[in-house]
Amino acid sequence: MTSVRLDGIGELVTNDPRAGIGSLGVVLDASLVVADGAVVYAGPQRTAPAADRLVDVGGRAVLPGFVDSHAHLVFAGDRAVEFAARMAGRRYETGGIGTTVAATRAAPDELLRANLARLVAEALRQGTTTIECKSGYGLTVADEERSLRIARELTPETTFLGAHVVPPGTDPDSYVDVVCGPMLRACAPHARWADVFCDDGAFDADRTRVILAAAAGAGLGLRLHANQLGPGPGVQLAVEHGAASADHCTYLSDADVDALAASGTVATLLPGAEFATRSPYPDARRLVDAGATIALATDCNPGSSFTTSMALCIALAVREMGLTPAEAVWAATAGGARALRRDDIGRLREGTRADFVVLDAPTHMYLAYRPGVPQVAEVWHGGRRVVPHWSGAAPVR
Ligand code: NIG
Ligand code: FE
Repeated sequence: MTSVRLDGIGELVTNDPRAGIGSLGVVLDASLVVADGAVVYAGPQRTAPAADRLVDVGGRAVLPGFVDSHAHLVFAGDRAVEFAARMAGRRYETGGIGTTVAATRAAPDELLRANLARLVAEALRQGTTTIECKSGYGLTVADEERSLRIARELTPETTFLGAHVVPPGTDPDSYVDVVCGPMLRACAPHARWADVFCDDGAFDADRTRVILAAAAGAGLGLRLHANQLGPGPGVQLAVEHGAASADHCTYLSDADVDALAASGTVATLLPGAEFATRSPYPDARRLVDAGATIALATDCNPGSSFTTSMALCIALAVREMGLTPAEAVWAATAGGARALRRDDIGRLREGTRADFVVLDAPTHMYLAYRPGVPQVAEVWHGGRRVVPHWSGAAPVR
């Protein structure tokens, strides 16, 4: 297979501290060589090996593709009116999920597939080369199974979220029996992960424990919607069960922060949800200072965060959550990879997947510095350029 060498990289973010400066492992005046879908070289241009094809990126920054480790993309309909009502002062409530569940159940497979494909393509255009996708808008055995079957066609990072909410009119304990029994059996073959929404209006600690144990027994990795709507037991449960990540983490006690810092559970922060529900942002600074590992993700869903923009999440994390641009970029790439327990993505070094972004900017800092501006010039996925979109002019510094 032909190898490709990208020269003229003004700033290469490797996320490999041994390869360059700081925790982003930044290499200036760098080259990246890719072959067979993988990185063969990531380092200074002067020592780069030869390749079959040469591309000059004209001083632009190159970074690993974004890893969006939390999204809900299989659904029909929208909830724009609910969003507008919130912006007029209404509170976010889990009851809105029912609107999407009704629309999703009524939708044919082709519509769900087309909606999903559109969102995945939209994310890819903006630099997201790995995206996790949850079920959770079916809430029957058949509808959860088909959501995951369809999700699996587009991403290997699929998550069974039958425990999103208890369907209206259903007894919660009977529903937990269904989730842990026939629903889990039908869904596990299409899923890598299981998730539970542990919060007021969704699942309490006891029911969450039962579902996590059943999912782990079925061989699924665990993740949790935790402490989004208020303080609660979610984070502690995630840590106790060795979950790969505890997501949202909006309301944390000191004990929650300590537990995350002492564990292998990543705190996945979803600022799009705080933005669209007009909620206080989680304190990322406090988590990082305590030694916790954090990831940033979009939480893309029609209710609480209808964005696929990892760049927006980075900008919000920097402006509202106390992170430096470098910390936010790390969390959106290597942090997401940690949250998915993947070491083949989120970094650029020999052997990792050749998933990366060429920015129409000289440095990663521009992602937060120029919020709202589309700056992803190219996206390379598995060593192939899938998004070519150069502005023409070289970036100005
Ligand atoms: O992550 N918190 C639970 N689930 C989604 C919201 C889903 C919805 O409102 O449709 C979330 O924010
Ligand atoms: Fe979510």
